[in-house]
Amino acid sequence: MSSVDRTGKIPNNVDLAGDKRLQRALEHWLPLYMEWWNDMGPAGFQTNDIYLRTAVSVEAGGWANFDYVKMPEYRWGIFLTPNDSVNSIGFGDHYGKPTWQEIPGEYRGNLRRIIVTQADTEPASVEQQRFLGTIAPSLYDMRNLFQINVEEGRHLWAMVYLLFRFFGKDGRDEAEELLSRRSGDEDKPRILNAFNEACDHWLSFFCFTHFTDRDGKFQLASLAESGFEPLARTCDFMLTEEAHHLFVGETGLDRIVKRSAELTRETDGDPTRAGGIPIDMIQRAINYWFTFSLDLFGGEISSNAANFFGEGLKGRFKEKSRYEDHVMKDGIKVVPQVISGRLIEDEVPYRNAINEVLRDEYIDDCQRALRKWNRTLEKSGLGIELSLPSRRFHRHQGIYADHPFDPEGNLITKEALEANSSRWLLNTEDNDYLVSIMNQVIEPGKMANWIAAPSRGINGQALEFEYVRL
Ligand SMILES: [Fe+2]
Ligand SMILES: [Fe+2]
Repeated sequence: MSSVDRTGKIPNNVDLAGDKRLQRALEHWLPLYMEWWNDMGPAGFQTNDIYLRTAVSVEAGGWANFDYVKMPEYRWGIFLTPNDSVNSIGFGDHYGKPTWQEIPGEYRGNLRRIIVTQADTEPASVEQQRFLGTIAPSLYDMRNLFQINVEEGRHLWAMVYLLFRFFGKDGRDEAEELLSRRSGDEDKPRILNAFNEACDHWLSFFCFTHFTDRDGKFQLASLAESGFEPLARTCDFMLTEEAHHLFVGETGLDRIVKRSAELTRETDGDPTRAGGIPIDMIQRAINYWFTFSLDLFGGEISSNAANFFGEGLKGRFKEKSRYEDHVMKDGIKVVPQVISGRLIEDEVPYRNAINEVLRDEYIDDCQRALRKWNRTLEKSGLGIELSLPSRRFHRHQGIYADHPFDPEGNLITKEALEANSSRWLLNTEDNDYLVSIMNQVIEPGKMANWIAAPSRGINGQALEFEYVRL
């Protein structure tokens, strides 16, 4: 394993200096990336000092170096989790054989697709969150937003390294495309739906980092055991950074729930009178972002997913530690399907339902967080609970997409869905209201009225710490 090079234009632990062609190609991409960052990265704040962590190595002491940095000067590096031992493929038809250091020719197309799809989400989320700094509820939150933004930028670097290193001209073309698609653009949208949805305010931001970044956790974890070792090691390191993004989402929503409950009591049931967020609006935001995020796991019945698993490219969540049978040639999984207007339990070959297996794990993880928010609500004594909608509700991908379901997962009529959807999903009025209450708060330690303070600061600093120097 090569050591960390911090002196070059691109900090890395992949010995870029030893591969001049690759180094030149990536150094050529760097100004294109900076152009994208300047056009599509956070609006404003580019000359401010921000208290950010930067990965300077992959070891415990090195990957979280805190200091004041101006975002354009952030050191976007390429880091792979080191691995000095010989590994074997952990699942699928090649189970037990040595992992690949180079791409097996027959899987080139599938690996390219997997890497490009993951890569595309990274710049997309930065684009979606572009204007949120201007309405941040505190310096603490503003700093977390920018931390996430620069790290999503680094995740793009991680994926682009794989494209340049292993895919030749195709990889270079893909890397260019990654900088030319735009979130929400009609002509050149991002690849996946959730990454084209508007994220105009901080309720959506926290839902996004909670639900949509959490999809990323499960995708990355299932790739972190890939038979293609450079991909596995890249994703493994990305997961360490991703944990903070999820923390921001989960605690952000918890703080909103807490404050909303307080304001609901203080205003006899209408927190909008005090510029707060009603609990039912939070529920609609959960319904909206959770269901868009469910789509990211792909079709319930998918021969592509079966191939990715069989080929040893993409496993399940914690494949090694949570499962015993890593081949799963003959298993079945029950997947409810709509047949002649009725919901019927159907048996599907296990490998074809592997997206659903990952979605199950994701939903369990979301439930865990939901129980926490409900404990916060319980303390308020309001007698209200939040819930996750059914996985069939409000879907745009897979076998449920063409059928109208209510949030409990019952088949309903199209008319009933239309009549109720503004009650069930974040709607235009909600978004207008949420934007209207969100004004930038920049006094150190102060919070906007619609959100409670976090329980502690970042990296042991006080809440009053000047996380962004304006
Ligand atoms: Fe990411
Ligand atoms: Fe993330």
